[in-house]
Amino acid sequence: MKEETLINTRQFVMHFHANDTSGHDWWHVNRVTQLALQIAIKEKADLFLVEMAALLHDIDDWKLGNSGTSKTELFLDSTGLPPSEVTDILTIISEVSFKGAGVDTPANTIESQCVQDADRLDAIGAIGIARAFTYGGSKNRSLYEPGVNPILHGSFQEYQTNQSHTINHFYEKLLLLKDRMTTPSAKAIAQERHDFMERYLDQFFREWNLS
Ligand code: ADP
Ligand code: NI
Repeated sequence: MKEETLINTRQFVMHFHANDTSGHDWWHVNRVTQLALQIAIKEKADLFLVEMAALLHDIDDWKLGNSGTSKTELFLDSTGLPPSEVTDILTIISEVSFKGAGVDTPANTIESQCVQDADRLDAIGAIGIARAFTYGGSKNRSLYEPGVNPILHGSFQEYQTNQSHTINHFYEKLLLLKDRMTTPSAKAIAQERHDFMERYLDQFFREWNLS
């Protein structure tokens, strides 16, 4: 029953994210799912709940605050899972999102922590860098504007609406994520990816300044 639900969910999600260019393509979801499971094994979390929540975590944009029955809920209701499991999965998903530099986003269960950490890990390191410039390009942002200093945007509103260069995104979000990991397994992976981003920025500025 659970294996069948997972197969159906993978198919639904793969189909849903096909052709997405906003940074939430199927490969992002797949990487987050594999990483969340890897962390979940080490943290002894419930693997079924973690995989279901990771697969479904980007179906709805939870940052916008959904009203009414979400697409995720409609799908979960169609699986025939017990209501308590549906609630558990929805709770994990609602706790995943990074809501801005100054906003605390607690993950209250070990399962939430695994999925939240995995989603954040996919935003940093080599792949995180690639995703940031892809996203910036899709919003017509320049790589970098000298003189427009890296700013920490306090409010979620500013975080959402800020039209800035992509290098700024490293300072307002990506370099902060290392310290926002909860599980020990994710912290170790984050450190390595963080160090790589630091080296990347160092090289970026050396090339920019011909120094
Ligand atoms: P998720 O929901 O997967 O945690 P987001 O929706 O916040 O992530 O962003 C998707 C991807 O786009 C991430 O890799 C993120 O770093 C990147 N991104 C989001 N906002 C910006 C931005 N202002 N500039 C550059 N990249 C961004
Ligand atoms: Ni995501």
